[in-house]
Amino acid sequence: MFATTFSHQNSAALPPDLFTAIAELKRELNAVVLAHYYQDPDIQDIADYIGDSLGLSQQAASTEAEVIVFAGVHFMAETAKILNPHKLVLLPDLNAGCSLADSCPPAAFAQFKAAHPNHKVISYINCTAEIKAMSDIICTSSNAVNIVRQIPADQPIIFAPDRNLGRYVMEQTGRDMVLWQGSCIVHETFSEKKLVQLQIAHPEAEIIAHPECEPSVLRHANYIGSTTALLNYSQRSSRSSFIVATEPGIIHQMQKQAPNKLFIPAPPMNDCPCNECPHMRLNTLEKLYWAMKNKNS
Ligand code: 13P
Ligand code: SF4
Repeated sequence: MFATTFSHQNSAALPPDLFTAIAELKRELNAVVLAHYYQDPDIQDIADYIGDSLGLSQQAASTEAEVIVFAGVHFMAETAKILNPHKLVLLPDLNAGCSLADSCPPAAFAQFKAAHPNHKVISYINCTAEIKAMSDIICTSSNAVNIVRQIPADQPIIFAPDRNLGRYVMEQTGRDMVLWQGSCIVHETFSEKKLVQLQIAHPEAEIIAHPECEPSVLRHANYIGSTTALLNYSQRSSRSSFIVATEPGIIHQMQKQAPNKLFIPAPPMNDCPCNECPHMRLNTLEKLYWAMKNKNS
């Protein structure tokens, strides 16, 4: 069974020092905390491993811990459970979904697949278990280009669910693919106009972007890559300032690893914090604590 725990309103008082309390629970439960870069800084700071979807799946596959606390979204915890069917996987807030995964409903995708016989289906890991079950290969933003390059040239491909990542992979590989037209609410929110204005104000800054962004943003990017690739690039680049076109949670790690560099979040279209993923940000340190504390409820 897919064992997530929803952290409900708890009448018991929170311990005064959540960091210490979570560290104690980790020891007691033999638990590992895996966190995506888009989590709140506090959660990143208590995590045993912070990474992108590929790194997190690899950690989930290799951990010897008995309990996996997955600070990320539902499809990530679900993937960890698929890789560890006999372990308990806790998601601090069971409502932490994903607009991109939701943009690919299984029934509609089954029809789409049936309309394209002889196609191999490559699905981005940001999809539900039902879509994964209909796929031949699962990729992440880190390895999508390499995977598509390995498919024989005469093999037609469906790529799902993210049309922006799919389009980017097509450009990089020169392969034609049939794209499912899904997208991520966070990465489609960046404003090209405001990005260009920001670049004029910071001419020394490099623009670094996640491939889930729209082409109108990607065309201004000096570097495009998965969250881990963006983090690594920002550390090794000789530049000292960056405009970051992805969820700004990752800036916590960028800043920690390069305290003297400047990281500016790319601006969304509206005056809202909508470049923050509303799903990822449902997880909090408090909910993570309660999920561990009440793991059997
Ligand atoms: P990566 O973790 O593969 O960079 O993907 C970003 C993302 O949107 C995760 O939800
Ligand atoms: Fe899904 Fe986008 Fe949030 Fe990632 S950032 S979890 S793709 S909605």
